[in-house]
Amino acid sequence: MPRIGYGVYQISPSQTERCVLDALSVGYRSIDTAQCYYNEAEVGSAVRSSGKARNEVFITTKLWGGQGYADTIRSIEQSLRRLDMDYIDLLLIHEPSGDYKEIYRAMEDALTAGKLRAIGVANFIDDTFEDLLKHCNIIPAVNQIETHPFRQQDYMYRRCGECGTVLEAWSPLACGKNGIFNNPVLVSIAEAHGKSVAQVVLRWLYQRNIVIIPKSTHRERMIENLSILDFSLTDGEMSLIATQDKGKSLFNWW
Ligand SMILES: NC(=O)c1ccc[n+]([C@@H]2O[C@H](COP(=O)([O-])OP(=O)(O)OC[C@H]3O[C@@H](n4cnc5c(N)ncnc54)[C@H](OP(=O)(O)O)[C@@H]3O)[C@@H](O)[C@H]2O)c1
Repeated sequence: MPRIGYGVYQISPSQTERCVLDALSVGYRSIDTAQCYYNEAEVGSAVRSSGKARNEVFITTKLWGGQGYADTIRSIEQSLRRLDMDYIDLLLIHEPSGDYKEIYRAMEDALTAGKLRAIGVANFIDDTFEDLLKHCNIIPAVNQIETHPFRQQDYMYRRCGECGTVLEAWSPLACGKNGIFNNPVLVSIAEAHGKSVAQVVLRWLYQRNIVIIPKSTHRERMIENLSILDFSLTDGEMSLIATQDKGKSLFNWW
């Protein structure tokens, strides 16, 4: 799984194809969509019109509102049809609602049937993650949760590491909230490296081995967000960023 991907939440269907084509042309090879973003079809058509082979691009989508086993199998087929693809690289349960154990069981079977390459969850924090671990046959490959300097998820970071589950950060740039781009600690570190605050934040996550999927509709920002491999943060800078944790969601959601 690429460690840097491109998220398409809140990109309208009419903009998605152009954005994903831009993202692929500047070097992204992983796209994060979801059933409830209503842009799976546009993601699929962008991948096809990019000329990239299917196996060059890693596609994640997420199940929304599944009720049980049969419903989930149907829902996976619908995503495959919208994407117009034979398989999905990573399928996540979008949130721990409904009968998530039955939903996950259906995902395990779809994985065995070759429709999915990997399965995981999103927003499974603390009890729900532990509950699923007790009942699953295949450990979730990924847990995608809100992670940025103001919500650092130290407990889930350790717990996912112990289980062999990759922690993937949603809203790695805090979706611009809480004045992130003008935060004095982040600005001073950015100035010291001649980098932007966005690059410092993404590098901080990257150095913690957290997968990142920043979203931007601007091509120059897509490039900026990918350009984080030519510098590194010191232990002191990593610790300074650790002091920015507020320990709670900025979105009042999971
Ligand atoms: N599983 C879940 O429940 C869940 C929830 C939320 C998000 N996600 C996933 O995570 C992805 C990323 O999260 P997100 O879209 O909420 O927020 P984000 O990536 O943290 O931030 C996106 C915002 O930051 C701006 N931005 C991006 N790069 C920038 C830069 N270099 N400098 C200044 N501003 C910049 C974007 O504006 P412009 O577009 O105008 O450039 C946009 O307003 C989503 O697209 C989605 O795939 C998953």
